[in-house]
Amino acid sequence: MTQTDDTISPATTSNSHTPKGSENLTPPVFDHAFQQQFIDLLLWRRDVRRFRTDPLPKADIDGLIAEACLAPSVGNCQPWRFVKVNAPERRKAIRDSFERANQQALDDYHGERARLYASLKLQGMDQAPVQLAVFADEETEAGMGLGRKTMPEMLDYSAVAAVQLLWLAARVKGIGVGWVSILEPKTVQQALEVPEHWRLIAYLCIGYPEEDHVVPELVRHGWQDRIDPQDLTLER
Ligand SMILES: Cc1cc2nc3c(=O)[nH]c(=O)nc-3n(C[C@H](O)[C@H](O)[C@H](O)COP(=O)(O)O)c2cc1C
Repeated sequence: MTQTDDTISPATTSNSHTPKGSENLTPPVFDHAFQQQFIDLLLWRRDVRRFRTDPLPKADIDGLIAEACLAPSVGNCQPWRFVKVNAPERRKAIRDSFERANQQALDDYHGERARLYASLKLQGMDQAPVQLAVFADEETEAGMGLGRKTMPEMLDYSAVAAVQLLWLAARVKGIGVGWVSILEPKTVQQALEVPEHWRLIAYLCIGYPEEDHVVPELVRHGWQDRIDPQDLTLER
C-alpha cells in the first residue's frame, strides 16, 4: 500500500499530536522508494552553521516543535520544553556566552589543533532567523518516574530524542538546524528566565541553509572523520 493523505496526516500535520480517531487509521507501509528517501534524509541531514537570513513562517516552527513532541520519552514523560528566543538582548547574552565558552575551549588546544579549532565556524547565531532553546524539565511529574529510578539521565536523553526528530523534520522541509553547545548553561538559563530545574539540552539555530552538503563540516575541514560503524560495534 502506498501512503494516502489519511495515513500521512497524523504524523505530519503540524499541531495535532494524536488526532481524535487516529487509533483506527490504517498503518502506513513505507515502500522501497520511501526507504531510500529516508536514508537520503539521514545522509543529507547536516549540522548547519551558515544560514540565509530570510524568516521562517511561524507555522513551520510550530510544526517542527509539534513533530519533535512525537519523540519517545522515558515513561512518556515528555520532558522537553522549548523556548523561542526572540528578544535581541537575550540573543546577545547567549551570543556573548558562546564567545566566552569558545575562547575557553580554544585555550585547551595547542599548536596546529588550536589553529584549526579557531578556523572552524561553530555556530550560526548571527544569521539564523530562529533560535530555539530546548530544556529538560528535571522535575516533571509526568510519567510518574517510570524508567528513571536507576538511570535518571534518561530524562535528558528523552529531550535529546526530541531534538533529533526536530532536526530530521526540518531537513525534510529544506530547513537547516545547527546545534550550539559551546555555551554556559547557567547563563542561558538566566538570559531566558526559565525555572532552575530546566536543564539546557540544546540551543538550536534554525533557518534556510546557504548550502547543502552530504559530508559533515568537521569532516570537510579535517577536524574529525567519520568512524566506521563496524569499529563501533561489539558482539558479545
Ligand atoms: C550534542 C551536540 C552538540 C553539538 N554542538 C555543536 C556546537 O556547539 N557547535 C557546532 O558547530 N556543532 C555542534 N554540533 C554539531 C556536530 O559538530 C555535528 O553533528 C558533527 O560534526 C557531525 O556533523 P553533521 O551533524 O553535519 O553530520 C553538535 C552536535 C551534537 C549532537
